[in-house]
Amino acid sequence: MRRKLAAGNWKMNGTQARLDVLDALNAAHVSTPCDIVICPPAHLLIPAAKACATGAVEIGAQDTHTAAKGAFTGDISAEMIADSGASHVIVGHSERREGYGETDATVCAKAIAAHAVRLTAIVCIGESLAEREAGSALDVIAAQLQGSVPEGSTGDNVVVAYEPIWAIGTGKIPTMAQIGEVHAQLRQDLIARFGPEIGGAIRLLYGGSVKPGNASEIFAVPDVDGALVGGASLAAADFTPIITALADS
Ligand code: PGA
Repeated sequence: MRRKLAAGNWKMNGTQARLDVLDALNAAHVSTPCDIVICPPAHLLIPAAKACATGAVEIGAQDTHTAAKGAFTGDISAEMIADSGASHVIVGHSERREGYGETDATVCAKAIAAHAVRLTAIVCIGESLAEREAGSALDVIAAQLQGSVPEGSTGDNVVVAYEPIWAIGTGKIPTMAQIGEVHAQLRQDLIARFGPEIGGAIRLLYGGSVKPGNASEIFAVPDVDGALVGGASLAAADFTPIITALADS
């Protein structure tokens, strides 16, 4: 059985005042039977990890450089992320792929950098609207999975998040049949590549406009092991019902 995972991506939102959300989540989910990860902006990694030292919430970063250290102004390494007390890092979010020209090879190198310091990589993949409309979504996703998820991946060190780009921050979501079709293919491809044990253990998240009102139907789709949530993870009043829906699914 794969343990369910609710991950929140705060993106470039939040000052120290927002750490209250973590206190509320830790208080609400003392015994909720699923994993909870919040990925705040980099300047909050250390206080967030401290705030969650004894709580259910784990902390992740939103990106990492591929190198361990060096002359990369403005970047943060996986070692620094681990040093902050975080346990996860998102790699290959579409906002990084599109805005910073990250390729599958870059994303794969970032996941490898994460693994080197025992961080779990949340590897994001997903098609554009044009690709979906052209009927190539499944091919695009298969290629991204193959190119972005490194050798040596396991159920402990990798989570795959399917995030159709056109669903992120738009309020639009695919049909449940479309989500199911993608997740079934992802599971099949992971098993073909890593074998039934590892391929069957890697968790698959859906991301893109997950809200309290649609969470239950998304979590009922086979092979959806949780969600990567943007906007609705910024307030405990929104994220808590999503986590509860996941635990109940
Ligand atoms: P959203 O973002 O939930 O605000 O659509 C999802 C994401 O980008 O991970």
